[in-house]
Amino acid sequence: MTDGDQSLSRIEDVAEYWDQRYGARLWPSEPDTILVSLASELMAGTALDLGCGTGRNSVWLASMGWSVQGVDISQVGLSQASRISVDAGVTLSFLRADILEFEPEPGLYDLVVLANLHFPQSSAHELFARVQTAVAIGGHLFVIGRHSDSARTAEECALNRFYSEERLESLFPAMEVLEIGRVPGRGGYPSKDVDKVYLWARRSDS
Ligand SMILES: C[S@@+](CC[C@H](N)C(=O)[O-])C[C@H]1O[C@@H](n2cnc3c(N)ncnc32)[C@H](O)[C@@H]1O
Repeated sequence: MTDGDQSLSRIEDVAEYWDQRYGARLWPSEPDTILVSLASELMAGTALDLGCGTGRNSVWLASMGWSVQGVDISQVGLSQASRISVDAGVTLSFLRADILEFEPEPGLYDLVVLANLHFPQSSAHELFARVQTAVAIGGHLFVIGRHSDSARTAEECALNRFYSEERLESLFPAMEVLEIGRVPGRGGYPSKDVDKVYLWARRSDS
């Protein structure tokens, strides 16, 4: 999936950009394979999927018994997510909201997912702080996104919105890092081979 939207400054423009992209073709409905392998080990609980898009991860989690809240700004994406959930025979909740403003209830979620969200570092600071407090004590956080090594254009480099192992490790100080890894994937627009990096972390009680 691309990341180009995150250089758009108005949320209406972000919504329109993604509405058009989701309207143009069918998006993959398979969940992220790393999330699947990591979250399959957990007992189902409450999950928050921020920037859930067309809901591939939300729907998979719901199919595993999780009670899921998906949040995204694209109405077209959320409509597709709803359809996919009906086809899969699962019930979950979707909310249209700007996640840079959204305030999840602190400590409510046993799992928070941030998949392929590439905000400029300057605008995402508070989001990342809220994300970790949304995780319940003992709960987990999964983050995956493009590796910063894959930034090729001047704009991609300037905004510093991709992730490195070091960045992921430092972004969530309340979390205990369980695993950080680098994997091949696809990203950008048009889509190309890029490395991704992921974080799997648990909220400790201190
Ligand atoms: C690259 S897609 C990732 C979708 C999904 N997480 C996945 O991995 O399949 C990025 C998503 O973030 C959403 N998004 C971007 N900025 C947002 C914002 N400020 N508030 C809510 N959603 C946003 C877009 O609408 C899009 O659905």
